[in-house]
Amino acid sequence: MRIPELGLAEFSDDQIKGRIIADLERARARTRLLTDALDDDELAQQHSRLMSPLVWDLAHIGNQEELWLLRDVGGREPILPETVDQLYDAFQHPRADRPALPLLDPQSSREYIGEVRARVIDVLERTPLHGRRLTEGGFVFGMVAQHEQQHAETMLATHQLRQGNPVLDGPAPPLAGGDALPAEVLVPGGPFTMGTSVHPWALDNERPAHQVQVPAFWLDTVPVSNADYQDFIADGGYQQRCWWSPAGWQHVQQVGLEAPLFWQQDGRLWLRRRFGRLEPVPPDEPVMHVCFHEAEAYARWAGRRLPTESEWEKAARHDPETGFARQYPWGDDEATPDRANLGQDHLQPAAVGAYPAGASPLGIQQLIGDVWEWTASDFTPYPGFSPWPYREYSEVFFGPDYKVLRGGSFAADRVACRGTFRNWDYPIRRQIFAGFRCARDASPGEG
Ligand SMILES: [Fe+2]
Repeated sequence: MRIPELGLAEFSDDQIKGRIIADLERARARTRLLTDALDDDELAQQHSRLMSPLVWDLAHIGNQEELWLLRDVGGREPILPETVDQLYDAFQHPRADRPALPLLDPQSSREYIGEVRARVIDVLERTPLHGRRLTEGGFVFGMVAQHEQQHAETMLATHQLRQGNPVLDGPAPPLAGGDALPAEVLVPGGPFTMGTSVHPWALDNERPAHQVQVPAFWLDTVPVSNADYQDFIADGGYQQRCWWSPAGWQHVQQVGLEAPLFWQQDGRLWLRRRFGRLEPVPPDEPVMHVCFHEAEAYARWAGRRLPTESEWEKAARHDPETGFARQYPWGDDEATPDRANLGQDHLQPAAVGAYPAGASPLGIQQLIGDVWEWTASDFTPYPGFSPWPYREYSEVFFGPDYKVLRGGSFAADRVACRGTFRNWDYPIRRQIFAGFRCARDASPGEG
């Protein structure tokens, strides 16, 4: 069977190394900004039981970098006593327990991660990027850059959960394009290539490329907006059992959900707290901080459903003209600021319709960036999956407990976001920067 997936351009080792250094440096600049914004007490404090103290994230980032790049790739001796490793092992200590650990203080953490990075640059210079699977095409260096950026997104979520004066600021995102967009787009039925076997920095759960038959379906042109979601609230959506799955309804009753996380009502006006500032909810921004159950209930109320993961990826990658899968909706070129709202450049999603340059071949917008999008799918392995480079990266999470999210948020960096990238979380989680869009089956004869 032919799996139509375009290979990536060939780059020299020097070009890849230049790219690795740029990605590592961009990640570190973000880590510094997010941790320098708070004093030592706030760094050591736990702002929510869902999150680590930021000082844990800080040294954990450096410890993972040391384990993979210095000790494994470089064959170097540990920088700190080896007992330090277990403090920063995410599988040994759940987030809620991390504040009680004898962690490095902020200053020692900064010195440690700086020392690791200096030595990594030296190891990178000496390491050939072929001949060993771990370093092939710079994979493990890319994995470490993605890891630090994933923590930058988690650390930003910690900032959002934190109470206190605002300490972060960013420029406003672009405005909506002004063109009237169709509410939904028909994605024709037929096979498409899901996942990748050629992206050198793709993680194990994105592999391998395989053909999937996806029947024709309709998908929203843009994510569901705050104004759309307010209609659901105003129509009594949270009070009517008929829109909710049994698990969703039980959760809503138990926790008393009435609106997205961080929203509050002032008379008839909805306000939200965003990084310490209270502001009116912008009507045309994608709705955010809703859990899977809320997304699913809204879709049912709207007479629709959530897209499956394969529908989402087909909409984002499949080029009906060539039959090839693209890396991104707009093609194979990298994400740029005019194509997608990524990288914490703006500390919020942009209005729906703000990124016409990032549209898919069929004209679907904002699939990449702005908000993670809940899908209807459980997190499961692709046919032919094999764990790499360690079982705990993905394999231990496969199963019905986690729902897949796609597309990346404004808080995700471009190194950790592509058309094949898969994120997963519990269906009750709301602190993540997640929203959704809706789909529906096509009628027979359509597409
Ligand atoms: Fe981590």
